[in-house]
Amino acid sequence: MNLTQLIKIIAFYGRLTPSYTQIGFYARRLSWHSKKPFNFDGQCWLITGANAGLGKAMMHAAVSSGADVIAVARNAEKLDAAIAELPTQRADRVTPLIADMSLQIDTQKLLDSLIATDKSIDVLQNNVGVLLNEHTVTSEGREKSFVTNILSHFLLTEGLLEQGKFAKSAVIVNMSSGGMYNVPLTYKLLNNLDPAKYNGKVAYGFAKRAQLALSQYWNEQYCENGLRVYTTHPGWARTPGVKSSLPLFWKLQNLILRTPAQGADTALWLCAERPEVSRDEEVIWFDRKPRPTHLFAHTRTPRCTVAELVDFLKKELLLVSGSHE
Ligand SMILES: NC(=O)c1ccc[n+]([C@@H]2O[C@H](COP(=O)([O-])OP(=O)(O)OC[C@H]3O[C@@H](n4cnc5c(N)ncnc54)[C@H](OP(=O)(O)O)[C@@H]3O)[C@@H](O)[C@H]2O)c1
Repeated sequence: MNLTQLIKIIAFYGRLTPSYTQIGFYARRLSWHSKKPFNFDGQCWLITGANAGLGKAMMHAAVSSGADVIAVARNAEKLDAAIAELPTQRADRVTPLIADMSLQIDTQKLLDSLIATDKSIDVLQNNVGVLLNEHTVTSEGREKSFVTNILSHFLLTEGLLEQGKFAKSAVIVNMSSGGMYNVPLTYKLLNNLDPAKYNGKVAYGFAKRAQLALSQYWNEQYCENGLRVYTTHPGWARTPGVKSSLPLFWKLQNLILRTPAQGADTALWLCAERPEVSRDEEVIWFDRKPRPTHLFAHTRTPRCTVAELVDFLKKELLLVSGSHE
């Protein structure tokens, strides 16, 4: 690491630490008007990455607030254990589904099983996400974090929207990250198959920036029926993902990181409040408020349009579904 990089890292963490940790959560909570418990009575929720971290916190909060939850994860034992932490009556309202969302084939099977049910989804939490420091290519020939963090979200959400599987006035929440602030929108660097040019944090950032663009696309394409799509980020929360992907950061910040429930708060609040979606201004929700989507000048000029991103993702999906026909 050279001096310029070191200065950039110090500036990034110096700027964001007070805001993204518990310090920011407690400070901002003082100004929240509504501290009532959420009420999701009678709703059907679909949460991906539901057996740990923020997804588990969301699953627990949603059933505790009256929703039925379809909980998706890759590891069945961990998912069963996360559900078993709930009191029996609440646990009975969770339907576990297993899918490896780093694979298109598995995500397609998940989508097919959801389409086959008669359930209408009130809330989709596109929460699954990974920061992979090691470059990994899946059995389908794709960089693993690209599929997990964006391609599978696109496949699942677009498929459910096309099939009319959402209830009236449904909400979709894309769980992004402050990592998106480091990069501009581009589709060209999303599926990086060259290990020599791979940096896990940068790959993660590109996918997280693309999530924001997809929110805009879905709001424009599917706004009939009252659908609202939001992008949020949780700040920095104490989850297994952060511990394994960012061990040094974990050591330095662990004591002041948010709890998973605090990290999930805005994603839940958006579903309860359904704030107006802005057509003029791109925003990311954090601590119950819309926030700017750029902090640094170098990310302000997108390297592709939203339409080009969507076109790229659609073409990617054809590559694997086509090869299995
Ligand atoms: N925690 C933070 O501070 C933070 C900050 C910014 C953004 N975020 C975002 O918030 C979301 C949740 O993060 P987290 O920290 O709670 O993560 P986490 O602790 O690592 O939990 C990730 C969840 O995703 C599931 N998952 C991972 N790979 C999967 C795959 N291939 N297929 C299906 N499920 C898979 C995991 O289930 P298995 O164990 O079964 O794989 C687990 O339920 C992510 O999108 C992350 O980028 C988190």
